[in-house]
Amino acid sequence: MREVAVIGTGMTKFGELWEQSFRDLFVEAALAAVADAGVDHIDSMLIGTMSGGLFVGQEHVGSLMADYLGMTPIPATRVESACASSGAAFRQAFIEVASGMSDIVLAGGVEKMNDGADVTYALSTAADQEYEVFHGITFPGLYAMIARAHMHRFGTTREQLARVAVKNHQNGARNPKAQFPMKVTIDQVLNSSLVADPLRLLDCSPVTDGAAAVILCPLEMARKFTPNPVKVIGTGQASDSIALHSRADLTVLNAVRRAGENAYKMAGIGPADIHLAEVHDCFTIAEICAIEALGFVEKGQGGKAYDSGLTALDGKIPVNTSGGLKSKGHPVGATGVAQIIEICDQLRGVCDERQVKNARIGLAQNMGGSGGSATVHILQAV
Ligand code: COA
Repeated sequence: MREVAVIGTGMTKFGELWEQSFRDLFVEAALAAVADAGVDHIDSMLIGTMSGGLFVGQEHVGSLMADYLGMTPIPATRVESACASSGAAFRQAFIEVASGMSDIVLAGGVEKMNDGADVTYALSTAADQEYEVFHGITFPGLYAMIARAHMHRFGTTREQLARVAVKNHQNGARNPKAQFPMKVTIDQVLNSSLVADPLRLLDCSPVTDGAAAVILCPLEMARKFTPNPVKVIGTGQASDSIALHSRADLTVLNAVRRAGENAYKMAGIGPADIHLAEVHDCFTIAEICAIEALGFVEKGQGGKAYDSGLTALDGKIPVNTSGGLKSKGHPVGATGVAQIIEICDQLRGVCDERQVKNARIGLAQNMGGSGGSATVHILQAV
């Protein structure tokens, strides 16, 4: 297997982007990544999109995007794993380069959610239709059940959930690409509208348009293109039941745990070696469960980590320096690659006000639905 590096990144601003179409968003991000990498061609392209069909009525996304990028006839494949679609696309791109099948591969993601679709319905197609959605549950409702179980079993408090949002908005306020770059207080979170008890508006990631793309190539070629490549040292992907009721413990994200273990094993390191992480905080409780599943804290101690500032920008393990899904936004199919871009930017030292000092190894965790699929990637500055 060849060693693989990220040599270029590009992403759009995240938000309600009325002036840009689905294809415009992807083309903007992809061209920015190509320019950043300085490559004159790409050999292949993997694109994560959760539901082009339901959000904008567009399937057959791979070829559409290759055409609008002016890159036909290269192979162009759409990858779907709900909100983990572009984490999975990145992993497939990694495998393609590592195997020797292709040299220069683009991995990207795109979603246009604010174009009039029934977003709650479209998102709910990532849950179990027969056993969950039929009975009226939505994603805020599913994560609310996880939150209740965590509060009941481990004493996690409403304030600790709020602190996740406060921290992520503080970071997002330093990210020019973020959809909601305002700082919020604990009181504002606690008094925001109730969405699904105990989760409130400011516990939820928003509905977002956006795209993100990176270029990968063999590490041995990387310095031809850039003085600061970022090496991919670990990749993991795992699945779990998509229905919550099938799980032994609602508070355990087994797919995240397993994907993390595989990525750590491949990298030959453990959670204590990670300098910063982007995790999938689609709801505040998701970040708490993710830092437990990734081994940054003991099971059940995730809430308490927000009393001590462990995950703050200047904490022992800064989490979601980009603002996370909560503040930066969550265009579902684009999120996984956007997380990887934040890690690359941090490792390349270009994050200005939100730069983590001496960051050399970072982790990105992307998750589909309520944890039915997950990818974990570990990257290192070289
Ligand atoms: N965080 C902060 N502010 C938000 C927000 C969020 N997540 N979502 C909306 N807002 C703001 C809007 O800008 C608007 O502000 P304004 O009144 O000053 O213009 C206000 O809150 C209401 O916005 P609106 O779009 O009417 O909210 P909504 O009630 O339709 O939707 C949610 C709010 C939380 C229900 C929606 O964002 C949602 O479904 N989020 C979850 C998405 C999801 O499940 N993703 C997949 C995860 S697995």
